[in-house]
Amino acid sequence: MGEIENLIKERERLHALLDFGHKVSMKILNLDDLLKLIMAEARNILNADRCTVFIRDFDTNTLWSKIADGLGKREIRLPVGKGIVGVVAATGKILNIKDAYSDSRFDIETDRKTGYRTKTILSSPMKNKDGEILGVFQVLNKKDGTFNEEDEKILSLLSRQAADAIENAFLYEEQKKMFESFIETLSYALDRRDALTAGHSRRVTYFSVKVGEKLALSPKDLEILKYSSWMHDLGKIGVRENILAKPGKLTDEEFEKMKQHAEYTREILEKIYFKKEYKSIPLIASSHHENIDGTGYPGKLKATSIPFFSRIIAVCDVFDALTSKRHYRQPMPILGVLGILKNDTGKKFDPLCVEAFFKISLCDIVRGINLGKVENFVVYSQDEKILNENTLEDLFLILKSGDLTPGQNEIVSAFMKYYGK
Ligand SMILES: [Fe+2]
Repeated sequence: MGEIENLIKERERLHALLDFGHKVSMKILNLDDLLKLIMAEARNILNADRCTVFIRDFDTNTLWSKIADGLGKREIRLPVGKGIVGVVAATGKILNIKDAYSDSRFDIETDRKTGYRTKTILSSPMKNKDGEILGVFQVLNKKDGTFNEEDEKILSLLSRQAADAIENAFLYEEQKKMFESFIETLSYALDRRDALTAGHSRRVTYFSVKVGEKLALSPKDLEILKYSSWMHDLGKIGVRENILAKPGKLTDEEFEKMKQHAEYTREILEKIYFKKEYKSIPLIASSHHENIDGTGYPGKLKATSIPFFSRIIAVCDVFDALTSKRHYRQPMPILGVLGILKNDTGKKFDPLCVEAFFKISLCDIVRGINLGKVENFVVYSQDEKILNENTLEDLFLILKSGDLTPGQNEIVSAFMKYYGK
C-alpha cells in the first residue's frame, strides 16, 4: 500500500475514533448497550470479524463472556490464567496472535462448539484507573491480514473506555444493592416486633410488583412502587407493643392509635434522603390506607388525589391481611377475600388496580401468599401448569358459580393445596 493510501486510511480511523468518543459521551446507555456500541466500533475500526467482552468474576477468579458475537445465549467461562483470554487477564498485557491454531494457549473447544474458525486474535485487558483488571476485550479474525501495532493501540484505547463503562455500572449496582439492603433491613426490624405479621411487607411488595407488571409500568416506576411497598408500614415502629401485637380485636381507641402508623411512615421516610426520582416515596408509602371514596386515612384523600402507586399497595395490603393469620383470626376463606376486594372496588379500591390484581396467575398468587410463611415453599410440577394457566379472576368466577365441572374442580383443588398453610 502506498504512503498516501496509508495516510488516508489513518485519517479515516482517527475520524471514526473521534466520532465514537462523541457517540459514547452523548448517549446515556445501560451497560449492555454501551458495550455493544464499543464492540461494533472495534469491529469497524479494526476491520475484525467478531468481538467478545469478558468480565472478571472476582469471587471465583474466572472470566465470563458478557457479550459475544456468534454465541447467542451461550456463555464461555474460564479461569484466569487459562487460554488466551485467561493469560491476558492474569498478566495484564495485550496479546496479538497471528495464527490461533499454532498457539498452544488457544483452546479450540469453543470453535468446535460454535463451528467458527478462529485465525487471528487480538486480546486486550480492560483496566480501571487503579490498574485493576476488570476483564478482557477481544477481537477475532482481521479481514485483511493480521492485527498490527496500530490495532493494538486502538484496542487498548477502546478497552479503557469499556472498563470505565463497566466500572460505572458496577458502582451503580453496588449503590443500588446497598440501598435495597438498607430498606429491607428497616422492614425486617419491624418484623422482629411482631412475629405474626412478619413477612407482610415482603408479600405486599411481591404482589405490588406483580400488579405493576400487569399494568406495564416502566422499570423505574416498578422500582418506586417496590421501595414504597417495602416501607409502607414502617411507621408501625412507632406503635406501642400492646396495641401492635394485641392477641385480640382492637378497641376503637386502640385502633385510632394503630391508624397513626400511616403518618409515622411519612414522618420517618421524610427524614431519609431520596434522590430526585424517589422523592414521591414517603407520600406513596404513607397513603396506603386512603380510600378512593375519601373514607380512608390519614388524609381522607379521594380518587386521583391519592398517588396511583398507593392505590396499588392498598389492594395488595388488604389481600395479604385477609389471607394471613392474625392475632384474632385464621386466614379468611379465599372466596370471602375475593368478594371483599370486588365489593370494595370503586369504594375503597381503584377499579384499575383491582382488575390488574385479578389478572395475576394463581401460581404467582400462591407463591406470594406463602412468602415468609412456609420455608422452602415449592409449587409441585403437576400443579404448576394449571396454576399458571389460570388467573385469580378465573378462580373467583369458578368459586362464585358454585356448581363445578371436573376441570374447574381440578383448578380449585390445586389452588387449595397451597392456601391457608
Ligand atoms: Fe398499614
